[in-house]
Amino acid sequence: MSITFYLIPFAVQYIHARCRIKCRDPLGWCLKPFSKKMMGLKYHVLLPVATGAMLFGIPYGISLVVQWMYGWPHKAGYKKYIEAVRPRRIYRLTVAVLKTLKYLQYSKLYFQWKQWYKNDDNHKHFQKGIAYGRRNNKLDLYYCSNTDQSGGDPTPVVLFVYGGAWGSGGRAIYCLLASQMAKELNAVVVCPDYSIYPKGNVLDMVQDIADCLVWVRENGQMFNIEKGNLTLIGHSAGAHLCALTALFLVRGAEELGIEVAKQREITASIKGIIGLSGVYNIMDHYQHEKIRGVEYVSTMHKAMGGIESFDYYSPSTALKTLSEDQLRRVPPFCLIHGTSDGIVPVESSLRFSEALTSFSAEVSLYLLPRLDHIAIVTDLMVPGRNFYYTVYSCIIQEYRKFIGIS
Ligand SMILES: *[C@@H]1O[C@H](CO)[C@@H](O)[C@H](O)[C@H]1NC(C)=O
Repeated sequence: MSITFYLIPFAVQYIHARCRIKCRDPLGWCLKPFSKKMMGLKYHVLLPVATGAMLFGIPYGISLVVQWMYGWPHKAGYKKYIEAVRPRRIYRLTVAVLKTLKYLQYSKLYFQWKQWYKNDDNHKHFQKGIAYGRRNNKLDLYYCSNTDQSGGDPTPVVLFVYGGAWGSGGRAIYCLLASQMAKELNAVVVCPDYSIYPKGNVLDMVQDIADCLVWVRENGQMFNIEKGNLTLIGHSAGAHLCALTALFLVRGAEELGIEVAKQREITASIKGIIGLSGVYNIMDHYQHEKIRGVEYVSTMHKAMGGIESFDYYSPSTALKTLSEDQLRRVPPFCLIHGTSDGIVPVESSLRFSEALTSFSAEVSLYLLPRLDHIAIVTDLMVPGRNFYYTVYSCIIQEYRKFIGIS
């Protein structure tokens, strides 16, 4: 607020100066903005105006466009606009948006990604756009280069579920990651699209992930997949969906629309779940979004169907509804989280690991210093990136434990 008061004298001076010129020479003022008079005034007037534009115009412009595109605050009538222009909200939204500029560092990765698709050699090792499930979503399938695609021993399978705040993302973005992961884990990696908001809500997404597991079960043989040897790996919202789907399957949830016997079999085939920077408690995450000022522009509360459903769709609270028998069937978890993650704080994985432990479920927790929310997944795409070996060594160690190779 202090900035506002500081700028008022400049604004007054500016309006005053403009009115003076206007009265003396109205036509000249309109037609020749860069006339001599204007040039003379340049240093007295334009500087404060430019400063004003920097301090006000840009933050307000950015924040209003973001809110216009992604959603106004949830207040009745005109009150939402009052809430939308509150200086604190403007400040926090601007910071959140400016922080995304650091993603420009990924331009090199973008070209490597483009290049990957152009190289025909890579097409031998993956199958693209296979339709699965009730909503006709598609999945890509990546072989490790030494997998025999027709015969030989069937290969264990990893389902990779990408993140994107339940409202963005696409399987094509993860081709480098999936093909690299297939090599590192000696597995077939399946990377599905799912019905992100507004195409679907959280239950649709959970059903999609479950459908994808049904697809693996029913079509595995055709692709030389060992369907009973399955690991789930998810990032951010994808880690949330992996955990939640597994817990729905464990309790044979009717909402999945899959026969209970089938759900049992699928549950038994899940050897483990690896969560990278995951969200496991929606209410906690909502509180964090509020601190960042992004709770209304975020797709989370819309995808979850409002605050009332937050607990129902939180893996950490869903655990509490399981019987002892069901708890015994919860697959082992591995949670990996960077301590420099500002989008999903490290407490998310910490608290979920505590919850799992308190219900005697198996969990390992890795907290990696200096790693943030994006690098934990982009650095898995190309060998030699900063955290490539750090994160893969955690994943490989846990993965081998899960599927029982020493
Ligand atoms: C999964 O695959 C690995 C590697 O091929 C194998 O050693 C292990 O026995 C398999 N586990 C199960 C449960 O089939």
